[in-house]
Amino acid sequence: MKMRSSLRKHFACLVLSFFPMMALAQGLADIQLPPPQMDGGRPLMQVLKDRKSTREFRPDKLPMQTLSNLLWAGFGINRPDGRRTAPSASNKQEIDIYVATADALYVYDAKTNRLHVLLREDVRVKTGTQPFVGEAPVNLIYVADLAKTGTDSEERDMDMGADTGVIAENVYLFCASEGLSTVVRGSIDRVTLSKAMTLRANQRIVLAQTVGYPPR
Ligand SMILES: Cc1cc2nc3c(=O)[nH]c(=O)nc-3n(C[C@H](O)[C@H](O)[C@H](O)COP(=O)(O)O)c2cc1C
Repeated sequence: MKMRSSLRKHFACLVLSFFPMMALAQGLADIQLPPPQMDGGRPLMQVLKDRKSTREFRPDKLPMQTLSNLLWAGFGINRPDGRRTAPSASNKQEIDIYVATADALYVYDAKTNRLHVLLREDVRVKTGTQPFVGEAPVNLIYVADLAKTGTDSEERDMDMGADTGVIAENVYLFCASEGLSTVVRGSIDRVTLSKAMTLRANQRIVLAQTVGYPPR
């Protein structure tokens, strides 16, 4: 009897220790990013001097710290009232940043500084029409949530474009500061990508942006 109970405990421990791996295999594990480092970076005028689009990337993964800093620079929260590093029309904050890597498709949650897993699938090649998108370690996809915007209008579409543009420029400046390659992209098959990302009917892909290390 005593023996059986200790065996049961052993089995329970084994199951519990394997559970995170099982969760991972099923695509259920989110990533808690390390807190963004806000005390780094090169002087702004030098960074502006170096800002540029580049289209060559090494496949090397970005460290989690770099990804955290990048996403915070792009559209992180920088004030206690929840406002962000980039402005948005009427503070609607309707742009979500999706992150496509070789491992999975995530969405950035600025409040918790987490990457929520949406698909444990590599959708990078579907994020654009140019060949480097499938090789670079990170493709950001800027998606507007129409539930947070006004009704269908030219003004709404202009706001979505502008709100995405300012985030993309933050990412450009971070990349220039860190010596990373990046290019913002409008050349996207949005129907195919929306399907691959399993987006809702009230979401719109605005632009994408590739990020990675430059060739050696
Ligand atoms: C809205 C927008 C869409 C763009 N789409 C693409 C694209 O699909 N593919 C690409 O290689 N570059 C794209 N670019 C990058 C431009 O080609 C690039 O910014 C321009 O050539 C100027 O180069 P620079 O960024 O180095 O100054 C886009 C830029 C913007 C602002």
